[in-house]
Amino acid sequence: HDINMKKSCDVVIVGTGIAGLFTALNIDAKKRVIVLSKTRLDNNNSNLAQGGIAACVDKDDDFKSHYEDTLRAGAYYNRKETTKILIQEAPKNIKKLLEYGTNFDQDENGYLRVTREGGHSKRRILHVKDATGREVIRSLGEVIKNRKNIHVYENVFAIDVITNKNTVCGVLAINEHGERIIYKSKAVVLATGGVGQIYKNTTNPAVTTGDGIAMAYRAGCVIDDMEFIQFHPTAMYSEKNGQKFLISEAVRGEGAILRNVKGEAFMKKYHKMADLAPRDIVTRSIFTEKMLHNTPYVYLDITHKSPSFIKNRFPTIYERCLEEGIDMTKEYIPVSPVQHYIMGGIHIDIDGKTNIEGLYACGECACTGVHGANRLASNSLLEGLVFGNRVALSLNHYISNTDERYLPVAANVQYKDCKEVDLENIKEKLQNTMDEYASIVRNQNGLKYALKEIERLSSQLLGCKESIKYYECMNMCIVSMLIIKAALKRKESLGAHYRTDTEGKRCIINF
Ligand code: SIN
Repeated sequence: HDINMKKSCDVVIVGTGIAGLFTALNIDAKKRVIVLSKTRLDNNNSNLAQGGIAACVDKDDDFKSHYEDTLRAGAYYNRKETTKILIQEAPKNIKKLLEYGTNFDQDENGYLRVTREGGHSKRRILHVKDATGREVIRSLGEVIKNRKNIHVYENVFAIDVITNKNTVCGVLAINEHGERIIYKSKAVVLATGGVGQIYKNTTNPAVTTGDGIAMAYRAGCVIDDMEFIQFHPTAMYSEKNGQKFLISEAVRGEGAILRNVKGEAFMKKYHKMADLAPRDIVTRSIFTEKMLHNTPYVYLDITHKSPSFIKNRFPTIYERCLEEGIDMTKEYIPVSPVQHYIMGGIHIDIDGKTNIEGLYACGECACTGVHGANRLASNSLLEGLVFGNRVALSLNHYISNTDERYLPVAANVQYKDCKEVDLENIKEKLQNTMDEYASIVRNQNGLKYALKEIERLSSQLLGCKESIKYYECMNMCIVSMLIIKAALKRKESLGAHYRTDTEGKRCIINF
């Protein structure tokens, strides 16, 4: 495990989702930027995003309404200062995205088309049919290819942020051949995305193992709001565990109705916004209907819309349903909630700075507080843009006014490994534990048991043979423990955190 490579630059960005790429592009073209992807540039949650990007760009919309919808969905736990920034800086960042070549859907007069999703009182979601993220990552990736100051390294896994006296000096990484690399830099941006893989069922791809949050935690960053995990109400149901195919909330935005197994539309029973209620409420309502009727799914029905509308507006979803033997123009789609997003993460200020000098974070791994206790639909790509841009602007100033860093001697310490461990088995046990005890509904006894179990699993990793899988497993243990500890601490129900064993005054619905 020799450290056989050292590279120098001004800033290292870890992660190639919307937040990482947008940050890179907005850094001054004279600064040397290295971007790391642990697999491929387009293998991330952003690339899979279907619904779109919420932004107040339509003449019938206003900032106040987007702001209030964001707070209401977030159970009023949102940080007001950052939420205002998110809403107000949305249009100018959407403009930049258009300049980078993102082809949002437009009407025949060239106006951007907007749709609705849960929790929004107006149509304000910009989209590219049902594959918005793919087009965003494509367009940003194209521009990055032509930027001489930005170097993207794929298949490089960041192990840890290197710090010296609470100041960042670079990143320690490992490549696919097991070679360790040190990237020396004046600043580091963590934009590593979510944590979905700690649950058995998630919309997130296999790379989402909470690496950035775990790295930041080890480096001494403040980590906030980890108890708030969002479960998307409508992933396509399948008996097999693992990554689940999302049926975008935009399908309900265009009129789809949730029905229980008896065919009854049930959402009006639970919330006045019915099928377009905030996501946490729809998820708990589905959970309840599944329990009442003892079924593993409910149905999503959009059969009342014309086949041509469905095929044109949702081509990806239509095709995927067909692969599963469902013609969504004629048949109901079986759906069930699965893990989708984490509202908490690395605490940052309005410029994306953490409490460690030179260390920044943005995107899903960061906690700006804009999502409160439950994120409003399509505000996540927006957060990546707005705070990615702010990180870049702050870095432009910071890098110019900062001297070269020296690596601490400890950064060169060799890794000593000894034992082989069945990492797949540890991961499976961790996922089972999180699904059972730290999921849509929680209680103290379950959470306490889960904490013991994850501590036991993480102790099995000590002295284990070094590999990317090993580091991922360790990171998953760390974020799981952070989630459980935060969930134990918050005794009342709030937003996506629902405790069945406490009579929370702030509880939104009871069942
Ligand atoms: C969706 O398309 O339903 C997902 C949108 C989001 O997560 O905001």
